[in-house]
Amino acid sequence: MTSGGDSPGMNAAIRAVTRTAIFNGVKVKAIYRGYKGLISGEIKEFNTQDVSNIIQRGGTILKTARSTEFRTSEGRQQAYNNLVQHEIDGLVVIGGDGTFTGARIFAQEFNVPIVGVPGTIDNDLYGTDSTIGYDTALNTIIDAVDKIRDTANSHERLFFIEVMGRDAGFLALNAAIASGAESAIIPEIATEVDQLQELIANGFRKSKNSSIVLVAESEVTGGAQGVAERVKREYPQYDVRVSILGHIQRGGSPTAQDRILASRMGVSAVDALLDGQRNAMVGIVNDEIVLIPFTKAIKDDKPVDKTLLDVVRILSI
Ligand code: F6P
Repeated sequence: MTSGGDSPGMNAAIRAVTRTAIFNGVKVKAIYRGYKGLISGEIKEFNTQDVSNIIQRGGTILKTARSTEFRTSEGRQQAYNNLVQHEIDGLVVIGGDGTFTGARIFAQEFNVPIVGVPGTIDNDLYGTDSTIGYDTALNTIIDAVDKIRDTANSHERLFFIEVMGRDAGFLALNAAIASGAESAIIPEIATEVDQLQELIANGFRKSKNSSIVLVAESEVTGGAQGVAERVKREYPQYDVRVSILGHIQRGGSPTAQDRILASRMGVSAVDALLDGQRNAMVGIVNDEIVLIPFTKAIKDDKPVDKTLLDVVRILSI
Protein backbone atom coordinates (compact mmCIF):
# COMPACT_ATOMS: atom_id res chain seq x y z
CA MET A 1 0.00 0.00 0.00
CA THR A 2 0.91 3.62 -0.36
CA SER A 3 -0.14 6.02 2.35
CA GLY A 4 0.16 9.70 3.31
CA GLY A 5 1.31 12.31 0.78
CA ASP A 6 2.20 10.81 -2.59
CA SER A 7 5.66 11.19 -4.06
CA PRO A 8 7.16 10.59 -7.50
CA GLY A 9 8.69 7.12 -7.57
CA MET A 10 6.01 5.42 -5.50
CA ASN A 11 4.87 3.56 -8.62
CA ALA A 12 8.39 2.31 -9.23
CA ALA A 13 8.38 0.98 -5.66
CA ILE A 14 4.97 -0.70 -6.13
CA ARG A 15 6.32 -2.35 -9.28
CA ALA A 16 9.47 -3.54 -7.51
CA VAL A 17 7.57 -4.95 -4.52
CA THR A 18 5.05 -6.74 -6.73
CA ARG A 19 7.60 -8.28 -9.07
CA THR A 20 10.06 -9.28 -6.35
CA ALA A 21 7.33 -11.08 -4.43
CA ILE A 22 6.08 -12.90 -7.53
CA PHE A 23 9.68 -13.74 -8.50
CA ASN A 24 9.97 -15.43 -5.11
CA GLY A 25 6.72 -17.34 -5.51
CA VAL A 26 4.74 -15.11 -3.14
CA LYS A 27 1.22 -13.87 -3.90
CA VAL A 28 0.66 -10.10 -3.94
CA LYS A 29 -2.44 -8.25 -2.77
CA ALA A 30 -2.57 -4.54 -3.51
CA ILE A 31 -4.31 -2.39 -0.92
CA TYR A 32 -5.87 0.78 -2.30
CA ARG A 33 -6.04 4.16 -0.51
CA GLY A 34 -3.63 3.31 2.28
CA TYR A 35 -4.97 2.41 5.71
CA LYS A 36 -8.36 3.73 4.69
CA GLY A 37 -8.62 1.02 2.03
CA LEU A 38 -7.30 -1.59 4.40
CA ILE A 39 -10.17 -0.78 6.74
CA SER A 40 -12.81 -0.74 4.00
CA GLY A 41 -11.32 -3.82 2.29
CA GLU A 42 -10.25 -2.27 -1.04
CA ILE A 43 -7.87 -5.10 -1.79
CA LYS A 44 -7.05 -6.73 -5.12
CA GLU A 45 -4.67 -9.47 -6.17
CA PHE A 46 -1.85 -8.16 -8.42
CA ASN A 47 0.10 -9.97 -11.08
CA THR A 48 3.18 -8.77 -12.97
CA GLN A 49 1.12 -7.03 -15.67
CA ASP A 50 -0.70 -4.90 -13.10
CA VAL A 51 2.52 -2.97 -12.63
CA SER A 52 3.52 -2.71 -16.30
CA ASN A 53 4.23 0.72 -17.73
CA ILE A 54 4.14 2.56 -14.39
CA ILE A 55 7.83 3.07 -13.52
CA GLN A 56 7.81 6.44 -15.31
CA ARG A 57 4.56 7.75 -13.82
CA GLY A 58 4.25 10.16 -10.91
CA GLY A 59 1.64 9.76 -8.16
CA THR A 60 0.55 6.30 -7.06
CA ILE A 61 -1.63 3.85 -8.98
CA LEU A 62 -2.80 2.53 -5.59
CA LYS A 63 -4.10 5.98 -4.59
CA THR A 64 -3.32 7.27 -1.16
CA ALA A 65 -5.05 8.79 1.84
CA ARG A 66 -4.49 10.02 5.35
CA SER A 67 -6.79 7.89 7.51
CA THR A 68 -8.24 9.20 10.76
CA GLU A 69 -10.06 5.93 11.39
CA PHE A 70 -6.80 4.00 11.57
CA ARG A 71 -5.92 6.14 14.59
CA THR A 72 -8.70 4.39 16.52
CA SER A 73 -8.40 0.86 17.90
CA GLU A 74 -11.74 -0.07 16.25
CA GLY A 75 -10.30 1.02 12.89
CA ARG A 76 -7.14 -1.01 13.38
CA GLN A 77 -9.17 -4.05 14.46
CA GLN A 78 -11.20 -3.81 11.24
CA ALA A 79 -7.96 -3.44 9.27
CA TYR A 80 -6.60 -6.58 10.91
CA ASN A 81 -9.80 -8.51 10.17
CA ASN A 82 -9.39 -7.65 6.49
CA LEU A 83 -5.77 -8.76 6.50
CA VAL A 84 -6.81 -12.13 7.90
CA GLN A 85 -9.71 -12.44 5.49
CA HIS A 86 -7.44 -11.75 2.51
CA GLU A 87 -4.75 -14.08 3.87
CA ILE A 88 -2.17 -11.32 3.97
CA ASP A 89 0.67 -12.28 6.26
CA GLY A 90 3.18 -9.55 5.57
CA LEU A 91 2.80 -5.88 4.67
CA VAL A 92 4.95 -3.45 2.74
CA VAL A 93 3.89 0.13 3.44
CA ILE A 94 5.22 2.94 1.28
CA GLY A 95 4.96 6.37 2.87
CA GLY A 96 6.41 8.77 5.39
CA ASP A 97 6.44 9.58 9.04
CA GLY A 98 2.67 9.23 9.69
CA THR A 99 2.53 5.98 7.74
CA PHE A 100 5.26 4.39 9.84
CA THR A 101 3.81 5.69 13.09
CA GLY A 102 0.58 3.86 12.22
CA ALA A 103 2.51 0.77 11.07
CA ARG A 104 4.44 0.56 14.33
CA ILE A 105 1.30 0.63 16.47
CA PHE A 106 -0.51 -1.85 14.21
CA ALA A 107 2.46 -4.24 14.18
CA GLN A 108 2.66 -4.17 17.97
CA GLU A 109 -1.05 -4.67 18.52
CA PHE A 110 -1.54 -7.55 16.08
CA ASN A 111 1.93 -8.97 15.62
CA VAL A 112 1.86 -8.29 11.87
CA PRO A 113 5.23 -8.30 10.06
CA ILE A 114 5.57 -4.90 8.38
CA VAL A 115 8.42 -3.37 6.38
CA GLY A 116 8.34 0.28 5.36
CA VAL A 117 9.64 1.98 2.23
CA PRO A 118 10.27 5.72 2.64
CA GLY A 119 8.24 7.62 0.06
CA THR A 120 8.07 11.35 0.74
CA ILE A 121 9.39 14.44 -0.99
CA ASP A 122 10.35 15.90 2.41
CA ASN A 123 13.38 13.61 2.97
CA ASP A 124 12.73 13.95 6.69
CA LEU A 125 13.15 10.34 7.79
CA TYR A 126 16.02 9.39 10.04
CA GLY A 127 18.15 6.46 8.90
CA THR A 128 18.10 7.09 5.17
CA ASP A 129 20.16 9.53 3.13
CA SER A 130 17.29 9.95 0.72
CA THR A 131 13.60 9.20 0.41
CA ILE A 132 11.72 8.32 -2.77
CA GLY A 133 10.49 11.48 -4.48
CA TYR A 134 12.93 13.88 -2.90
CA ASP A 135 15.23 14.10 -5.92
CA THR A 136 12.32 14.62 -8.33
CA ALA A 137 10.88 17.36 -6.12
CA LEU A 138 14.29 19.05 -5.99
CA ASN A 139 14.45 19.02 -9.77
CA THR A 140 10.93 20.42 -10.05
CA ILE A 141 11.84 23.21 -7.66
CA ILE A 142 15.00 24.22 -9.48
CA ASP A 143 13.15 24.22 -12.76
CA ALA A 144 10.60 26.64 -11.27
CA VAL A 145 13.26 28.79 -9.62
CA ASP A 146 15.20 29.08 -12.89
CA LYS A 147 12.06 30.47 -14.50
CA ILE A 148 11.31 32.86 -11.66
CA ARG A 149 14.93 34.05 -11.88
CA ASP A 150 14.26 35.37 -15.40
CA THR A 151 11.45 37.62 -14.29
CA ALA A 152 13.16 38.53 -10.99
CA ASN A 153 16.13 39.71 -12.98
CA SER A 154 14.13 41.70 -15.48
CA HIS A 155 12.25 43.57 -12.77
CA GLU A 156 15.15 43.74 -10.29
CA ARG A 157 13.05 42.16 -7.59
CA LEU A 158 13.54 40.23 -4.41
CA PHE A 159 11.64 36.93 -4.52
CA PHE A 160 10.74 34.75 -1.58
CA ILE A 161 9.87 31.31 -2.92
CA GLU A 162 8.18 28.88 -0.56
CA VAL A 163 8.89 25.20 -0.92
CA MET A 164 7.40 22.17 0.85
CA GLY A 165 9.07 20.05 3.48
CA ARG A 166 6.60 20.12 6.34
CA ASP A 167 8.96 20.95 9.20
CA ALA A 168 12.17 20.05 7.43
CA GLY A 169 14.49 22.25 5.38
CA PHE A 170 16.13 19.65 3.11
CA LEU A 171 14.25 20.74 0.00
CA ALA A 172 14.83 24.45 0.64
CA LEU A 173 18.50 24.08 1.43
CA ASN A 174 19.55 21.81 -1.39
CA ALA A 175 17.31 23.51 -3.95
CA ALA A 176 18.96 26.79 -2.91
CA ILE A 177 22.37 25.35 -3.72
CA ALA A 178 21.21 23.82 -6.98
CA SER A 179 19.43 26.95 -8.20
CA GLY A 180 22.06 29.43 -7.08
CA ALA A 181 19.64 31.15 -4.71
CA GLU A 182 21.00 33.88 -2.47
CA SER A 183 19.77 32.22 0.68
CA ALA A 184 17.60 29.54 2.28
CA ILE A 185 15.47 30.09 5.35
CA ILE A 186 14.91 26.76 7.09
CA PRO A 187 13.14 25.75 10.32
CA GLU A 188 16.10 23.79 11.70
CA ILE A 189 18.00 26.94 12.54
CA ALA A 190 15.22 29.50 12.65
CA THR A 191 15.15 29.56 16.42
CA GLU A 192 18.93 29.95 16.76
CA VAL A 193 19.56 32.54 14.09
CA ASP A 194 17.51 35.38 12.68
CA GLN A 195 18.21 34.32 9.12
CA LEU A 196 16.48 37.29 7.55
CA GLN A 197 18.37 39.75 9.71
CA GLU A 198 21.63 38.02 8.76
CA LEU A 199 20.72 38.15 5.14
CA ILE A 200 20.01 41.87 5.21
CA ALA A 201 23.14 42.57 7.28
CA ASN A 202 25.21 40.78 4.65
CA GLY A 203 23.61 42.98 2.02
CA PHE A 204 21.84 40.39 -0.01
CA ARG A 205 21.60 42.41 -3.16
CA LYS A 206 25.19 43.52 -3.29
CA SER A 207 26.09 44.01 -6.93
CA LYS A 208 23.16 41.91 -8.09
CA ASN A 209 20.03 43.26 -9.58
CA SER A 210 17.77 40.55 -8.17
CA SER A 211 17.69 38.06 -5.34
CA ILE A 212 16.02 34.76 -4.70
CA VAL A 213 15.50 33.34 -1.25
CA LEU A 214 14.04 29.88 -0.72
CA VAL A 215 11.85 29.62 2.36
CA ALA A 216 10.85 26.26 3.83
CA GLU A 217 7.14 26.10 4.68
CA SER A 218 6.78 25.94 8.44
CA GLU A 219 5.29 27.84 11.32
CA VAL A 220 8.83 28.36 12.54
CA THR A 221 10.00 30.19 9.41
CA GLY A 222 6.66 31.95 8.95
CA GLY A 223 6.64 30.81 5.32
CA ALA A 224 7.47 33.02 2.35
CA GLN A 225 4.49 35.28 3.02
CA GLY A 226 5.51 35.86 6.62
CA VAL A 227 9.11 36.64 5.70
CA ALA A 228 8.03 38.95 2.86
CA GLU A 229 5.69 40.90 5.11
CA ARG A 230 8.50 41.51 7.54
CA VAL A 231 10.79 42.73 4.75
CA LYS A 232 8.11 45.05 3.39
CA ARG A 233 7.68 46.50 6.87
CA GLU A 234 11.33 46.79 7.87
CA TYR A 235 13.04 47.32 4.50
CA PRO A 236 10.56 49.10 2.24
CA GLN A 237 13.28 49.85 -0.35
CA TYR A 238 13.00 46.32 -1.76
CA ASP A 239 10.55 45.38 -4.49
CA VAL A 240 9.33 42.11 -2.97
CA ARG A 241 7.35 39.26 -4.51
CA VAL A 242 6.24 35.91 -3.14
CA SER A 243 5.80 32.65 -4.97
CA ILE A 244 4.46 29.53 -3.26
CA LEU A 245 5.28 26.47 -5.36
CA GLY A 246 2.76 24.17 -3.65
CA HIS A 247 1.69 20.77 -4.95
CA ILE A 248 3.50 21.09 -8.25
CA GLN A 249 6.43 19.80 -6.18
CA ARG A 250 4.69 16.47 -5.57
CA GLY A 251 3.96 15.62 -9.20
CA GLY A 252 5.80 14.64 -12.34
CA SER A 253 7.72 11.75 -13.76
CA PRO A 254 10.33 10.49 -11.30
CA THR A 255 14.00 11.17 -12.02
CA ALA A 256 16.36 8.30 -12.79
CA GLN A 257 17.69 8.58 -9.24
CA ASP A 258 14.22 8.15 -7.71
CA ARG A 259 13.34 5.26 -10.01
CA ILE A 260 16.54 3.44 -9.10
CA LEU A 261 16.12 4.16 -5.40
CA ALA A 262 12.49 2.98 -5.44
CA SER A 263 13.40 -0.18 -7.34
CA ARG A 264 16.24 -1.07 -4.98
CA MET A 265 14.17 -0.33 -1.89
CA GLY A 266 11.16 -2.27 -3.17
CA VAL A 267 13.30 -5.36 -3.82
CA SER A 268 14.92 -5.06 -0.40
CA ALA A 269 11.60 -4.62 1.41
CA VAL A 270 10.33 -7.96 0.11
CA ASP A 271 13.69 -9.63 0.75
CA ALA A 272 13.56 -8.34 4.32
CA LEU A 273 10.07 -9.77 4.90
CA LEU A 274 11.08 -13.12 3.43
CA ASP A 275 14.10 -13.03 5.69
CA GLY A 276 11.84 -12.71 8.75
CA GLN A 277 12.57 -9.03 9.37
CA ARG A 278 9.76 -6.83 10.64
CA ASN A 279 8.85 -3.41 11.99
CA ALA A 280 11.60 -1.65 10.17
CA MET A 281 12.06 0.81 7.33
CA VAL A 282 14.35 0.24 4.39
CA GLY A 283 16.89 3.04 4.08
CA ILE A 284 19.90 3.92 1.99
CA VAL A 285 23.13 5.03 3.64
CA ASN A 286 26.28 5.63 1.59
CA ASP A 287 24.61 3.84 -1.30
CA GLU A 288 24.05 0.70 0.77
CA ILE A 289 20.58 -0.57 1.65
CA VAL A 290 19.99 -0.75 5.41
CA LEU A 291 17.06 -1.53 7.75
CA ILE A 292 16.11 0.91 10.50
CA PRO A 293 13.59 0.09 13.24
CA PHE A 294 10.40 2.16 12.85
CA THR A 295 10.95 3.65 16.29
CA LYS A 296 14.24 5.22 15.22
CA ALA A 297 13.05 6.33 11.77
CA ILE A 298 10.07 8.11 13.30
CA LYS A 299 11.38 9.46 16.57
CA ASP A 300 14.96 10.47 15.85
CA ASP A 301 15.36 13.83 14.17
CA LYS A 302 17.23 13.70 10.92
CA PRO A 303 19.83 16.44 11.13
CA VAL A 304 20.41 18.88 8.28
CA ASP A 305 24.01 19.44 7.36
CA LYS A 306 24.42 23.03 8.46
CA THR A 307 27.62 23.46 6.47
CA LEU A 308 25.36 23.45 3.42
CA LEU A 309 24.15 26.89 4.52
CA ASP A 310 27.76 28.05 4.29
CA VAL A 311 27.87 26.70 0.75
CA VAL A 312 24.83 28.84 -0.12
CA ARG A 313 26.35 31.88 1.57
CA ILE A 314 29.80 31.54 -0.01
CA LEU A 315 28.44 30.94 -3.48
CA SER A 316 26.00 33.84 -3.41
CA ILE A 317 28.57 36.66 -3.14
O1 F6P B 1 4.69 15.28 3.40
C1 F6P B 1 4.61 15.70 2.08
C2 F6P B 1 3.95 17.05 1.98
O2 F6P B 1 3.91 17.43 0.62
C3 F6P B 1 4.57 18.15 2.82
O3 F6P B 1 5.73 18.70 2.23
C4 F6P B 1 3.43 19.11 2.93
O4 F6P B 1 3.53 19.91 4.09
C5 F6P B 1 2.22 18.22 3.01
O5 F6P B 1 2.61 16.97 2.45
C6 F6P B 1 1.00 18.73 2.30
O6 F6P B 1 -0.03 17.83 2.51
P1 F6P B 1 -1.43 17.85 1.73
O7 F6P B 1 -1.16 17.38 0.33
O8 F6P B 1 -2.28 16.91 2.48
O9 F6P B 1 -1.89 19.26 1.74
